[in-house]
Amino acid sequence: MSTTQTTQIEIIKAATTKINDVDFGNLSFGSVFTDHLFECDFKNGEWQQPVIKPYAPFLLDPSTRVFHYGQAIFEGMKAYKNEADEIWLFRPDENFNRFNKSAVRMAMPEVPEELFMSGLRQLLQLDEAWIKKGKGNAMYIRPFMIANGTGVIANPSDDYKFMIILSPVTSYYAGDVKVLIAEHYSRAANGGIGAAKAAGNYGAQFYPTTLANKQGFQQVIWTDDATHTKLEEAGTMNVFFRINNTLLTAPVSERILDGVTRKTLIELAKSEGINVEVRSVLVDELVAAAKDGTLQEIFGAGTAAVVSPISGFSYKDEYFELPKLESTVANQLKEKLTNIQNKLEEDTFGWTVKI
Ligand code: COI
Repeated sequence: MSTTQTTQIEIIKAATTKINDVDFGNLSFGSVFTDHLFECDFKNGEWQQPVIKPYAPFLLDPSTRVFHYGQAIFEGMKAYKNEADEIWLFRPDENFNRFNKSAVRMAMPEVPEELFMSGLRQLLQLDEAWIKKGKGNAMYIRPFMIANGTGVIANPSDDYKFMIILSPVTSYYAGDVKVLIAEHYSRAANGGIGAAKAAGNYGAQFYPTTLANKQGFQQVIWTDDATHTKLEEAGTMNVFFRINNTLLTAPVSERILDGVTRKTLIELAKSEGINVEVRSVLVDELVAAAKDGTLQEIFGAGTAAVVSPISGFSYKDEYFELPKLESTVANQLKEKLTNIQNKLEEDTFGWTVKI
């Protein structure tokens, strides 16, 4: 199929549904998948016939390039069902554009918008019964692409597989989130792949995050690789700090992912009259604010994590507990964001897209 043709997707329906085996009231994030997936291969320099087919494991040659060189990218998006049974996406163009930026950085082919969007739409329509109504419920959408060519030569693959899978979800974090501020390990460096949603960015965090987990912290806040003095982002989310009634977050860069929730919260906060500064936030500044009582809140922002308040942080073996406030900016922004996503209040920004 050439990239200019209109996308006709072949649909092979599952003979049975797994939906009745799922306890929707007790979902562990990203562990249950719907009945179907979307798949399209890139071969001979062209995207091939796309297909929606039953969700199932598939075979790959042991020399497949993705296993050896980690040429893989992904996105995280969500769909919501409102009381009128309509399905809505939130800023899907942002995820689509970032997917292709990641593809370029990882020497992979860009996915045509029509292919990405029509695959996504038709898959969601087919598995729509899996999208549960009500705030807190969502369908987590995971588009991803892997280098599918074989042979262990360390070159970009000629062949790729683009897929979309769907997972019904509720919250990402179950309880309190405590974070450790990185003193040695880094997530990304200038000139590297930090701004891409590349699989390796996440895999590389697992070891230092496991060390932090053993000390009772759910996440690490990464600091810049050169000086370890600037607060950057956490493993699954961008981070915001509220000091002296100003909301602070680091600017996106070659090291920091351009988070869709991050940019949304910046716009929402400004529209709510909250003072926002997008600038480097220093670890020393955070520690000083925690000590003099001007640090009010820290929270993470991401598609999976939504808005996740952080209850405390540790730096150089010193632990700082955040104040327990009655009303927080994290809650105010989360309420506003999830109301817009669930179509419970008017979307004056034009972010929601009906499928
Ligand atoms: C998302 O928030 O969608 C992400 O991709 C983070 C992920 C590692 C769970």
